[in-house]
Amino acid sequence: MTSGRVVRNLALVGFMGTGKSSVGQLVAAQLHFRFADTDELIEARAGKSISAVFAEEGEPQFREHERAVVEELRNFHRTVIATGGGLVANEENLNSLKSHALVICLWASPETIWERVRGQPHRPLLRTPDPPAKIRQLLAEREPFYRRADVLVSTELRSVKEVVHHVVHQFRLARGHPSHP
Ligand code: S3P
Repeated sequence: MTSGRVVRNLALVGFMGTGKSSVGQLVAAQLHFRFADTDELIEARAGKSISAVFAEEGEPQFREHERAVVEELRNFHRTVIATGGGLVANEENLNSLKSHALVICLWASPETIWERVRGQPHRPLLRTPDPPAKIRQLLAEREPFYRRADVLVSTELRSVKEVVHHVVHQFRLARGHPSHP
């Protein structure tokens, strides 16, 4: 699957609320890798929060920041990269990640995602009258992209610790150094 590919980084993709940042930080610690988060890289570039980028510049400009950050990631080494939920809905972004990283998608159902993100006001795309419907719609649109990840890991009925274990194992397998259970 990844034969002949360069796998020097690990990219976590998937919808909001699937645990990319929390899982990514723990995976990075286990692998002795650095951790990077594309939303944080965008905030540093733009000099403002993601909410402010959406409010002041609009979503198309946010996606442009994402595209530029994806380019920068090509120079990263030994890094676990947590990506924003919509980043791989751009095929070029996904292909770029695959040129240097194993791409692992964290998955959850729309109901679980809503349970996890409700009460978190910092997500601009969910500031709508009916957030559960928006989650279902976006997830349906993005599913074909998420399914193009190298590995799909369900986070349903799994603790963060179990998801971390699974991700580390898949990464070591892809690099030809399987971990011993
Ligand atoms: C977005 C997800 C967010 C952030 C932005 C847009 C999306 O990241 O990039 O609000 O399009 O799904 P998280 O997935 O880390 O919440």
